Amino acid sequence: MLAVAILAAGKGTRMVSSLPKVLHKLSNKTLLERVLITCNKLNPQEIYVIVGHKSKEVKSSIKGNKNLEFIIQEPQRGTGHAIQILSKHINKYDGNLLVLNGDVPLIKTETLKKLIKFHESENADVSILATKKKDPFGYGRVFAKDNLIERIIEEKDCDTNQRLNTLTNGGIYCFKWKSLSKVIDNIKSNNQQNEVYLTDTISLMNKSIYLEIEDNGELQGINNRIHLAKCEEILQQSIKEKHMHNGVTFINPTSCTISEDSKIGVDVIIEANTHLRGNCKIDDNCKIGPNTFIQDTKVNKNCEIINSTIFNSEIMEKVNIGPYSHIRPNCKISSSSKIGNFVEIKNSQINQEVKINHLSYIGDSKIGKSTNIGAGTITANFDGISKHKTIIGNNSSIGANTVLIAPIKLGESVTTGAGSVITKDSQKNTLAIARSKQINIKNWVKRKK
Ligand code: UD1
Ligand code: MG
Repeated sequence: MLAVAILAAGKGTRMVSSLPKVLHKLSNKTLLERVLITCNKLNPQEIYVIVGHKSKEVKSSIKGNKNLEFIIQEPQRGTGHAIQILSKHINKYDGNLLVLNGDVPLIKTETLKKLIKFHESENADVSILATKKKDPFGYGRVFAKDNLIERIIEEKDCDTNQRLNTLTNGGIYCFKWKSLSKVIDNIKSNNQQNEVYLTDTISLMNKSIYLEIEDNGELQGINNRIHLAKCEEILQQSIKEKHMHNGVTFINPTSCTISEDSKIGVDVIIEANTHLRGNCKIDDNCKIGPNTFIQDTKVNKNCEIINSTIFNSEIMEKVNIGPYSHIRPNCKISSSSKIGNFVEIKNSQINQEVKINHLSYIGDSKIGKSTNIGAGTITANFDGISKHKTIIGNNSSIGANTVLIAPIKLGESVTTGAGSVITKDSQKNTLAIARSKQINIKNWVKRKK
């Protein structure tokens, strides 16, 4: 039987933030969300999240997690105090209690499984994860003899000699609840921080052991923003390495960020300063970047996107985008189209082989196959109250600097004169031209004089 307690009540003073520490994000998921995702995979019978500081905010950040109960710790008197409060709720429980610090977000499910297995096979009262750190500053130090832990001493309570111990407490514990419940109320706050430390229970139990893992980043705790950045770096490196093993080239990996949920095909080249957010899927043989931001978008095979920004859209095969294009949500750009410099497109369907090469705004539109949109074309979709549609047929040719006043519908093979303000629908094969005729006033300069 397994229950999990996640410690998430602390303020996180060292973050210097109005946001509770566990709500800070790593690659767009909160620390708490990450810990929850990891421990949900263990299928525990119950997850207790200990909340306190700004508990409303922390609670509402979590939606639809099964078997989850919030326990309020008010005020927050330390990690041991948090479990003292929990103990009133789980008095009669008779299984293992896995305690996870909410600020150790990179811990992996497999490692937790190893810890639980180790704990059970050793029939221990408590088993913790520990690691030897080059720079152990800030962590509790684990003092052990023959693999039995004698004590954990917090950094601030260590003397100079004790500080030299590099074996650190990872903040992840598997307790036999029956053993912990007997001693949990015996711990006091007689220490430098005047807090009740959970780590003080360790020396009160008979068999306290540790599982040492290599310092691979999983046990990196977050107490300040430097730690936050460190975790982001560890996470990003592992995401990008995974893609590189799967056939993706990164020209300058450190300058790129890739969300965990993004998928990238074989022989994709990601150039410097490219960022994939949310749920992106980039198919084989695309070239993305440099300087490109793509969010929640599917990009099909053989596309090239340079210096551009794309949100929540679908880009079909062999499309060329950029430099300096902005594709806003809900667009479909069909195959072999070209979207060029300073073009903004929103909520529009662009058919195959369309060219919108320069300086345009296309909104709420449908553009037919093989149509050419001249430089500076604007769909005037907003009348001040609501948005209206622009529909342009196949093989049309929209002259440079055309303004299309929506709602408007142009048929197939319509041409508009450059500089026209088009207000009326036009049928197939029409030339629509709406601009004042040029007048040449001869010898005008002379007359003025
Ligand atoms: C803690 C451990 C330390 C370990 C380190 C690993 C203790 C006493 N020390 O130190 O040995 O090396 O984690 O990262 O446990 N929290 C509560 N209620 C409270 C206080 C804290 O829920 O009253 C929560 C915090 O929100 C946080 C977690 O407990 O998620 C750990 O607290 P933190 O203050 O960060 O402890 P550390 O100093 O990092
Ligand atoms: Mg911490």
